[in-house]
Amino acid sequence: MADQNWTDYHADLSLTRLLPRIQEIFSPSETEHQEMFERRLKHHWPRLFGLLVRLYGGHYDFFYHLEGIVAAAARSWLERSADLKELDARLEADPMWFQSQEMVGGVLYVDLFSENLAKLHEHIPYFKELGLTYLHLMPPFAVPAGDSDGGYAVNSYRALDPSLGTMEDLTLLADRLREEGISLVIDFVFNHTSDEHEWALKAQAGDSRYADFYYIFPDRTLPDQYERTLRDIFPEIRRGSFTWHEGMRKWVWTTFHSFQWDLNYANPDVFRAMTEEMLFLANTGVSVLRLDAVAFIWKRMGADCENLPEAHMIIQAFNAVARIAAPALLFKSEAIVHPDEVLRYIGSDECQLSYNPQLMALLWEGLATREVKLLEHAMRTRNRIPDNCAWVNYLRCHDDIGWTFDDNDARVVGIEPGAHRRFLNDFYTGNFPGSFARGIPFQYNAESGDQRVSGTLASLAGLEQALQANDPLLIDMAMRRINLLRSILLSVGGIPLIYLGEEWGALNDYSFITDARKARDTRWVHRPKIRWDKERWQDPETVERRLFSEVAALIRLRKAQPALRNAGMEVIRTENPHLFGYIRHGGGQRLLIINNFSDYPQSMGENRLRVYGLGYRFVDHVSGHSYSANEPLYLGPYGFVWLETTEYTRPA
Ligand code: GLC
Ligand code: GLC
Repeated sequence: MADQNWTDYHADLSLTRLLPRIQEIFSPSETEHQEMFERRLKHHWPRLFGLLVRLYGGHYDFFYHLEGIVAAAARSWLERSADLKELDARLEADPMWFQSQEMVGGVLYVDLFSENLAKLHEHIPYFKELGLTYLHLMPPFAVPAGDSDGGYAVNSYRALDPSLGTMEDLTLLADRLREEGISLVIDFVFNHTSDEHEWALKAQAGDSRYADFYYIFPDRTLPDQYERTLRDIFPEIRRGSFTWHEGMRKWVWTTFHSFQWDLNYANPDVFRAMTEEMLFLANTGVSVLRLDAVAFIWKRMGADCENLPEAHMIIQAFNAVARIAAPALLFKSEAIVHPDEVLRYIGSDECQLSYNPQLMALLWEGLATREVKLLEHAMRTRNRIPDNCAWVNYLRCHDDIGWTFDDNDARVVGIEPGAHRRFLNDFYTGNFPGSFARGIPFQYNAESGDQRVSGTLASLAGLEQALQANDPLLIDMAMRRINLLRSILLSVGGIPLIYLGEEWGALNDYSFITDARKARDTRWVHRPKIRWDKERWQDPETVERRLFSEVAALIRLRKAQPALRNAGMEVIRTENPHLFGYIRHGGGQRLLIINNFSDYPQSMGENRLRVYGLGYRFVDHVSGHSYSANEPLYLGPYGFVWLETTEYTRPA
């Protein structure tokens, strides 16, 4: 309490000292902007100040840094366009806009999807046909020639890869998408820059100010001590987390690739500099920043340097700055870590949105085992997030699948976690007898036995194998699996995110091994270049067109169900090990959704149906069929229903 009083007192004091300096930034003709800025600044200042004090209060020049951060926010606010300011006001008044059941996301690589940003405009009708309202472009920034980790080694946050277009093109696209009701999402790759970023180049040239932007060590003493507790992220590519730089003759902290230099957030100058980059991106019209690799942004000797408390404080401080200078901006957390740690990044004062890696991994787990006990248990206990936030659910993304579930959850349902992960890796890399999947291993770690899996949705779900066998029955099964996963993706609660290409069943593309920049990273197998084969595309009989039509129809269905708004979901006990069921309610509607993970028909007892469905008669919105609770509910192989009662149970 005393602490709180101290913070409040100093927050007031510092604001009183700051305001006159900030006011100098605004010219007399800009008083309206100034007033708006000050109103938000005053409102969010106590929170921002409290975080910055905890992070940087010990620095002798703390006030100087505070001023730098707030001045950056003020300048950015002045540069923010009238359109975006209007959007700020609109979304502040409707802060839950992203929870609408109308939200549907798509993600793509600009070069692989449409070559460049200009040509992306031509695909807007396609996005609308599919029903997208959220479009994530994989990092389009300037990157080193050669390997850039798929764009995640950024040379400049203010310049694009020239082959994709310019910043103006990006702004134009954001405007155009906004007119069409589509929010633009891009990455904020804020854990590291490339070794060719201006700051890194200055550090290499011996500029000590910029050397302090990174973690640079004269010898192995500290790196060796840190490494005792660190995990290798890309063990097949490089062991350890530090890279020797020949030019500087020093060691640099590089969690990911050797050309990705971790930023040193213990330095307030880095926080200020990255605040400026963040606000610059916000002013291009980006609605959501995907915060890349959130878990790694703070380091401490003796710790695994993942998910440290200060990592949360840094993100919360960015969040507070955004509320002041770009209120429409949302954050999406990319934390591919233990499910409980994933949850800690989610909050209206931190990341309003988050990937849901646990659900993703467990859907695949269910498909491999044909059983839902682990999925059910985890979704019952570890899926709950604050009401004003949303999951971003996905089946596949540009990254590998890691088997992130809680070990104890597995034990509780009678599964040995280590053996199970090995089974899942075998199953999805086609090394398990009878497996339908065609994935390939990613980053096998011989020491720990860890491995992840690469592959597209369709290849992992059996379509590649089925098409090769040219077997209509197998093709049918693979399509059913894909549709089952989509049923859950679109109804389970949160924003569904489609990794574009998956909507029509893109298969693995093995050609990456012939490209020297990609060959060592199997994730490229599921990042195919999209070929717009018009004929196949229009023929309604092709697998591609059928898969597309089915998902587009399911998306339309989703958008018409008020119960699918927001994240609240209640897992039910289907009493059938293969059926995953849950209730969604809201907007005066209640849906009972049941999904069959087995390749055989399954049933759920009629009293379950009555109890959970609160009724005697039901309509399935997917097929239009009616059901009665006088008999069990039968679902075909990989079948699913979205049931609404048409005749309520009369209260006793
Ligand atoms: C994120 C990205 C991944 C990248 C890593 C390093 O996890 O999703 O593709 O390799 O960050 O930036
Ligand atoms: C690790 C990281 C995650 C990253 C992935 C890339 O799992 O936790 O952030 O996306 O590696 O493969």
